[in-house]
Amino acid sequence: MKEITIETKLKVFDTIEDLPNAVSDLMKTAVDARKRAYAPYSQFLVGAALLLDNGEIITGNNQENASYPSGLCAERTAIFYAGSKYPDAKIKMMALTAGSVHQETLTPIPPCGACRQSISEYEVKQKVPIEIYFMGTSGKVVQSASLANLLPLGFDRSFL
Ligand code: THU
Repeated sequence: MKEITIETKLKVFDTIEDLPNAVSDLMKTAVDARKRAYAPYSQFLVGAALLLDNGEIITGNNQENASYPSGLCAERTAIFYAGSKYPDAKIKMMALTAGSVHQETLTPIPPCGACRQSISEYEVKQKVPIEIYFMGTSGKVVQSASLANLLPLGFDRSFL
């Protein structure tokens, strides 16, 4: 038997203003996208903004449904649109902001497991890390240099 330790390195910025300019601009775009989320059931709004290597910015937000499982998270709404519109572009970074309509959320909210799996597909496909920045509705912003950092022991196409 041997024991394996898996480490994840994250950076924490105190506020959105401490981010490099290109990143704070992208996060502000995610904040704007969050306002257009359709989340009448959870009242938990999520905004995502992706920067592609062709300079395009793609946004998404969560889209809920009366049949709950038919809704989709903000991250996948954005990344599937990016993949459908610019199939050859690489995703450089992704900015995420999330929180309830009822209160300010200071805790940085990471993407859910299903979204991590979906983002991982594109990171593996493009062979270039996707930087992920995530926050609540205000306060600290966490950066992960790659999706792989957030999904240790991920399942990918190499197993098929
Ligand atoms: N949600 C996202 O948009 N992204 C996540 O990573 C986690 C959850 C959405 C789904 C649902 O509309 C609401 O947040 C509450 O779960």
